[in-house]
Amino acid sequence: MSKHPNLPVAPEAMREQIEHAAALLDAGELVAFPTETVYGLGGDAENPEAVARIYAAKGRPANHPVIVHLAPHGDPNYWVEYLPADAQKLIDAFWPGPLTLILKRAAHIPAAVSGGQDSVGLRCPSHPVAQALLGAFSALRGGHGGVAAPSANRFGHVSPTTAQHVRDEFGVAIHVLDGGSSDVGIESTILDLSRGFPALLRPGRVTPQDLADVLGVAPRLPDGSDATAPRASGTLKAHYAPRTPLALLPFEALEPILAAARDAGERVALVARQSRAGGWAGAEGVHFVAAPEDPHAYARELYGLLRALDRAEVARILIEKLPDTIEWIAVNDRLGRAAAAFGAQD
Ligand code: TXA
Ligand code: MG
Repeated sequence: MSKHPNLPVAPEAMREQIEHAAALLDAGELVAFPTETVYGLGGDAENPEAVARIYAAKGRPANHPVIVHLAPHGDPNYWVEYLPADAQKLIDAFWPGPLTLILKRAAHIPAAVSGGQDSVGLRCPSHPVAQALLGAFSALRGGHGGVAAPSANRFGHVSPTTAQHVRDEFGVAIHVLDGGSSDVGIESTILDLSRGFPALLRPGRVTPQDLADVLGVAPRLPDGSDATAPRASGTLKAHYAPRTPLALLPFEALEPILAAARDAGERVALVARQSRAGGWAGAEGVHFVAAPEDPHAYARELYGLLRALDRAEVARILIEKLPDTIEWIAVNDRLGRAAAAFGAQD
């Protein structure tokens, strides 16, 4: 196993845990495991009963597809009708890593993993514990095992970036492999290659520019006007939501809300870049969180932050809207959906 700065125990000590988890997957049970993006709730992708257990545990509608995770030397060809040249280029450039490709599903792969659609989502994670688990499971399957895994959270809630987050979601009911905190912090970039042109379904750490550099053309961006786009729950308007009401507004628009809350004696959380917050950073009744100024750091901390704010006993979470620039596209996407769960934004 390669070195990972974040592991709670030595990789050698995890070997036994990983073998055990692979055996659970082989028996049709579920295992939550770390990836570099977020923790996944995994089950054998070729066992429709295991996939049904994932849906049941998450409380997720059965027509939403899940991503199939492959070991580093797993063969994508096994899962697809054909592998387009563009897919191979992207695999060479970004796997293992936070990029999911949507491709035409091979006929022998159960439709359950794609919610009945004719495609399949494939990803090869870079986290060493995920790789070891996928490798061990795949070995039990003659080299072709794949693990279906959505994010290990209840449907619509904030994705988990630590093992403790997964336990907070599911209690002891789900077996969790602890691989430390996820480095990327938000879900993988999803690119659809199943329709003859590249279309971004979900922004992530791999940016539209990164994709364009490899493809030679810019992918179509998700702007809501793509009526033929496949269903993707991460693309639902309201998703990734904390339980406390959340508002996402430019700082100028937050100030009157902060003032009104102060006058009403209401305790609120304020997430804003230190450079913008001014006197509100230390104001009475304001639980201030200095937001990272860098998009990668922001993404890494976002979900842990939303979870912590749910426990902070504030009436509202006020978040400073970030610049509408391409470097913030993935963070803006997640913040926008979290806020949309409370109706305010579009
Ligand atoms: O980073 C990630 O992708 C994490 C980790 C665990 O790998 N997984 C994740 O899974 O975010 P999930 O299920 O929460 O989101 C996967 C997204 C969903 O929006 C799903 O609809 C979409 O991928 N997806 C998966 N297979 C698809 C398919 N065949 N067609 C269209 N969308 C698909
Ligand atoms: Mg999810």
